[in-house]
This record gives sequence, structure tokens and C-alpha cells, in this order.
Amino acid sequence: MAAEWAPAQRWLHWATAGLVAAGFGLAWVMTSVPFRQMALKFWLYQAHKSIGLLVLLAVVARLVLRTRLGRPATELPPNASAWAATGHAVLYILLLTVPLLGVLTADTAPLRIPTLFLGLLPLPVLAERDPALFAVLVALHRALAITLVVLAFGHAGMALRHHAAGRGVMAAMRGRHRAL
Ligand code: HEM
Ligand code: HEM
Repeated sequence: MAAEWAPAQRWLHWATAGLVAAGFGLAWVMTSVPFRQMALKFWLYQAHKSIGLLVLLAVVARLVLRTRLGRPATELPPNASAWAATGHAVLYILLLTVPLLGVLTADTAPLRIPTLFLGLLPLPVLAERDPALFAVLVALHRALAITLVVLAFGHAGMALRHHAAGRGVMAAMRGRHRAL
């Protein structure tokens, strides 16, 4: 088994972390911009939606690579390793469901604005406009996004704790030549 994550797996892991942080931050900014600043609000929503779709693409790519390349041998004791595996599975589920709920939120919105992926590519509409369903979906999308970010903080904390205890988990995710 490899001693560290493959470069593509490492790159996608850090890109996902950056994209989730950016998309989450933008969500609060875009919703608080007043409607009279329509152009700014429009482009902030487009950026939020494109970043979220990039998260979805990145996680699908990660899962494909994970199936084909596997993962490095874990240095964690069996009990911690089982908890880590469960935590990672929940993170993957949230990384898939949060963007998918975002797409349905955008589709069902009372004021449906087309989603232009990267400002260019219109996304096909998957659901009908439905204000009652929108209210449920937006609350769920928001709650699961917050859960994802809280769990990601816990996950980062655990990774640093294992690193401090001398286990090579961070080195395997950062690349062989790095100390942290
Ligand atoms: C939004 C932020 C993040 C998300 C969604 C995320 C998600 C994940 C997932 C799903 C895995 C499991 C990989 C697998 O087994 O297939 C993983 C592994 C890992 N992550 Fe993160 N991560 C995030 C941020 C961070 C941060 C900030 C750090 C470090 C400070 C970190 C350190 C690690 C390490 C060291 C591993 C390898 C764990 C192992 O070998 O068992 N992650 N991450
Ligand atoms: C990991 C990816 C994503 C994260 C972390 C995320 C996070 C959030 C959060 C926290 C909110 C609530 C903001 C608030 O209530 O003030 C929100 C709202 C929203 N998001 Fe996302 N989102 C993601 C992906 C997506 C995607 C892919 C789309 C659509 C293509 C999308 C569309 C929306 C829409 C339409 C709203 C509703 C804003 C409103 O109330 O008008 N999101 N998102």
C-alpha cells in the first residue's frame, strides 16, 4: 500500500477544503447584499453556485480516484481508525448532498435565476418552481452546509492532534517531503 496519498488525491483534498470555505463564506455575503445592488447580488449567487458545483465535481473525482487508487495504510490505532473512517464517510455524504440540495434550492426558488456554471454554461433545470418546497430545501441546504463546516473543523483538529502525536497523517496528505 502507498505511504502517502497520490498527488491528484492530495490536490483535490486541499482544493475541496478551499472551495467549501469560499462557497460557505460567499453564501452569507450574497444573501445579505440588498436587492437594489442587483448586479452584484446576481454575480455573487453565480459565484456561490459555481463554487458549489466545483465541490461536487471534485468530490466525484475524489471518490473515483479513491476506488481506483485506494488510500495509504493508516497509522492510527484500530479504534481511532474506525472513527476516522466513519467521520470521512459522513464528510463525503455531506460533500455530495449539500451541492445537490443547492441545485434544487436554486430550481425551486420563487425568483428562479438561471445557474451559469463558471458564468457561461447554463445548468439544466431539475425541479419546478415551488416556494413551499424552496423554504424546506433552503433550510436543509443551510443546516447541512453548517454541519459540513463544523465537522470539517473537527476533522482538521483531529488531523492536527494525530500529527502532534507523531503519526504521519498530515505528511501523507501534504506530500512526502514536508514535515507538516
Ligand atoms: C472543508 C474542509 C475539509 C473537508 C471537506 C475534508 C475532507 C476529507 C475527507 C473526506 C477525507 C478522507 C479521505 C479518504 O479517506 O478518502 C480527508 C482526509 C484528510 N484530511 Fe481533510 N478535509 C477538509 C479539511 C482538512 C484540513 C483543514 C486538514 C488539516 C488541517 C485536513 C487533513 C486531512 C488529513 C491529514 C487527511 C488524511 C486522513 C487519513 O489519512 O486518514 N483536512 N479529508
Ligand atoms: C459545498 C457547497 C455549498 C455550500 C457550503 C453552500 C452553503 C450555503 C449556505 C450556508 C447558504 C445559506 C445562506 C443564508 O441563508 O444566508 C446557502 C444558500 C444557497 N445556496 Fe448554497 N452552498 C453550496 C452549494 C450550492 C450550489 C451547488 C448551489 C446551486 C447550484 C447553491 C445554491 C444556493 C442558493 C440558491 C441559496 C439560497 C439563498 C437564498 O436564500 O436566497 N449552493 N448555501
